[in-house]
Amino acid sequence: GLARKKTNTIALVLPDITNPFFSELARAVEDAAKHYGYTLNLCNSDNEESKEKAYFDILKDRYVDGIIIASDTSAYRRHYLKNSKIPLVTIDQTPRNESSVIVTSKNIKGAKLAVRHLFEIGCKKIAHIYGPLEYKPSLDRLRGYEQAVKSQEWYSSSLTVQGNFKIESGIEAVKTLLERHPDIDGIFAGNDLMAIGALKGLLKMGKKVPEDVAICGFDNINLTEIMEPEITTVAQSIYGMGTLAVELLMKKIGESPVEADDNIHLHELDVTLIQRGSTQRGV
Ligand code: RIB
Repeated sequence: GLARKKTNTIALVLPDITNPFFSELARAVEDAAKHYGYTLNLCNSDNEESKEKAYFDILKDRYVDGIIIASDTSAYRRHYLKNSKIPLVTIDQTPRNESSVIVTSKNIKGAKLAVRHLFEIGCKKIAHIYGPLEYKPSLDRLRGYEQAVKSQEWYSSSLTVQGNFKIESGIEAVKTLLERHPDIDGIFAGNDLMAIGALKGLLKMGKKVPEDVAICGFDNINLTEIMEPEITTVAQSIYGMGTLAVELLMKKIGESPVEADDNIHLHELDVTLIQRGSTQRGV
């Protein structure tokens, strides 16, 4: 067949560039790509299949050398990938039945760290705001939360509410949760933007954070340190994920020397709890 011309360009497909998690990730990918002499072609899919499909069609024509994708796994994408030879690495999402190399975080472990920490500071009834379930990390964090609280006699599924990973949905979620259970004293939000929304919502309702209700988020985006109180969160290694994804892609493309081990299909990076004011109760 015809040999592809090298373009020294890789595409990065993101579900939502307005979320700082993904813009920080894009920055990491850009830095790592630059190191290998590659530039980025940024595609924001809004997690919509039609947009993602349009991007794939463009990418095909422009002959990018590889793709890093952090959107969910649509039927079109699976079809497209079966018929394409473009090297691909999936980041954050963990699609099943796909041969793509995956870079993600230990999401179940992270959720358990968050809930255990809330127990440790004395929380007696912990709620969870989860993200859209087409994002695999949302499902894993929900599972981690459930595993950590299911043996409590107070546990009920009405302590979980779905948000959409944006601030506004966190505000709405705490309203719903406190209407259902006025005695909630701890909230684990499935990402930092929803934790920020939860903080805003609680303060509006006249609650004190962390004295009345403590909050823990997920991601460790820079914004968490700007809030008052600063928000405790489960840190993902955003920079590490971006760098590793590029290294794995470079290895597929055939750049050398690359150290990353591409014999591993699923790379789950470790997460750590970052304790800040939103869970710091005076002794
Ligand atoms: O903030 C966006 C969230 O969606 C992150 O937690 C990331 O892991 C993703 O799935």
